[in-house]
Amino acid sequence: MNISKILSISPVMPVILVEQADRAIQLGEALLAGGIKTIEITLRTSAALSAIEHLAKNLPEIHVGAGTILTKEHAREAQNSGAKFCVSPGFTPSIINACYECNIPLLPGASTVSEMLTLSEAGFSEIKFFPASAAGGIKFIKSLASPLPNLKFCPTGGIFYETAQEWLSLVNVICVGGSWIAPAKDINDNNFTDITNRAKQATKLVKY
Ligand code: 3PG
Repeated sequence: MNISKILSISPVMPVILVEQADRAIQLGEALLAGGIKTIEITLRTSAALSAIEHLAKNLPEIHVGAGTILTKEHAREAQNSGAKFCVSPGFTPSIINACYECNIPLLPGASTVSEMLTLSEAGFSEIKFFPASAAGGIKFIKSLASPLPNLKFCPTGGIFYETAQEWLSLVNVICVGGSWIAPAKDINDNNFTDITNRAKQATKLVKY
């Protein structure tokens, strides 16, 4: 499945930091119960790759991506763990090449128009706008719809339930990412009911 299809599955993609891999299945089930089928597990913990592997093997209905891809090695490890796609806060030629060689879709990050044009030239039409709130917010992405009509964004960083719908109303936003649905504290505290409830709330947001 290509990035465009993956990002079109749900209006919200949870960005998740997993500290204990053995919580991954409960986490996945909690999100599925709330209607979420696309998630990004960030490679910021030693448990992340193992969590991705558990999810890819046991809950194939979830499209699990590996986030915080910072090196070509991360891209290869993500592919080996069963991740369906990679997400990077930025991009480098070696990350792009590694994902291409591994045949794993990449959602690269950008926060300036020149970076976006560079990605467009490299063949990308879906871009993670990161850090979304700090790098210009809704006004910035809205201003790009006319000059960059072929690019669609997944804004991430500083987005919460209360602001997600406004982002989703933009014509060039395909979905939003955020950690508010499944924060690490709730996962560590086995608070999966709240995660399901937030997932249900998020899936009711509308992508016009
Ligand atoms: C990230 O990569 O950390 C995401 O941008 C999550 O940001 P958030 O915690 O502000 O939702």
